[in-house]
Amino acid sequence: MNEPASPLAKRRVKISALGTYVPPRLLTNADLERMVDTSNEWIMERVGIRERHIVDKGVSTSDLAVEAAKKALAQRGIGPSDVDAIIVGTVTPDMLFPSTACLVQHKLGAQGIWGFDLSGACSAFVYAVQTGAQFVATGAHKRVLVIGADVMSSIIDYTDRATCVIFGDGAGAVILEPAQDDSVGLIDFIHEIEGSGGCFLYMPGGGSLHPSTHETVDRKMHYVHQDGQQVFKFAVRKQTEACLKLLERNGLKGSDIDAFIPHQANLRIINATAERLGLRPESVIVNIDRYGNTTAGTIPLAMGTAIEQGKLKKGSLVLMASVGAGFTVGAALLRWAY
Ligand code: UT7
Repeated sequence: MNEPASPLAKRRVKISALGTYVPPRLLTNADLERMVDTSNEWIMERVGIRERHIVDKGVSTSDLAVEAAKKALAQRGIGPSDVDAIIVGTVTPDMLFPSTACLVQHKLGAQGIWGFDLSGACSAFVYAVQTGAQFVATGAHKRVLVIGADVMSSIIDYTDRATCVIFGDGAGAVILEPAQDDSVGLIDFIHEIEGSGGCFLYMPGGGSLHPSTHETVDRKMHYVHQDGQQVFKFAVRKQTEACLKLLERNGLKGSDIDAFIPHQANLRIINATAERLGLRPESVIVNIDRYGNTTAGTIPLAMGTAIEQGKLKKGSLVLMASVGAGFTVGAALLRWAY
């Protein structure tokens, strides 16, 4: 296979461990049928979700992130101070500041490390992996802990049937470190942002433009607002385009992919992309039925599902793909390392 000189060519970087976490409480379609004018049939047919996990009051994004991080660290057999930096991808930080990364560092008891949050919405995990990989590739750091975590239930209007059926809460964490063996690790990525799409998926209140007031609360400005059809069309088009470009410039075909790990926003988006890429059906990783859309959490949670299903082995060729608010677009190729 022809793999070109990659942007990460200085030192090959691998994912050496994965940890995932979802809160125990379930919100099923039957529960939602009692809350808004919807039906299990509509949600299954239009989105593909059966149930999602939702936090109890008082549980925050950093709590989910810490649980996922602990599992990744335990799998790798290292302590929290053995990583050099923490990057947390999230749109639902515990608060605007301090960063969720600082809260996670403190809760883990990691010492002498640094970190920051990364805002990329549903592409945040893919973006955070590439960002963290740069520190490892240059030799600046030995290990970076990358977390995608969101408590979407904290910004969802549970009287709005168009959004409340879609989202869930969850987190996943990976450890990045140098690959000893060039046959595994991150290969290439194509990321893109398109700010003209910002008006189709956003939360208007609480920032510097619309600071929190009684009025912003009354006008429901602290909730997710989405033009679903616009996002859907952009997602199918751009996710496909980024993946095709990435495959082509690496001399690959869709059928070469062992595990396609897409953002889990809508089963119809996943299936449309998979068909256009010419993927083998068994390579497409889907768990939206169990978790819904957990924003930055979906891709690491789907990595967990791929492992459960025996679809990730050492050397497996993985394609990650995402589209999210912004718009943000992400596509990344790697060979699984363990
Ligand atoms: O992760 C971030 C990126 N986000 C996405 O990728 C989301 C992309 N968009 C989507 O997944 C889909 O657009 C949705 C799932 C959000 C909506 O599905 P849709 O097939 O595009 O539905 P629609 O918005 O066109 O609405 C069709 C009908 C409408 O009724 P009328 O006007 O035809 O009478 C809606 O009011 O479905 C109605 N509807 C519902 N009905 C039952 C909307 N939500 C619901 C619901 N239950 N929960």
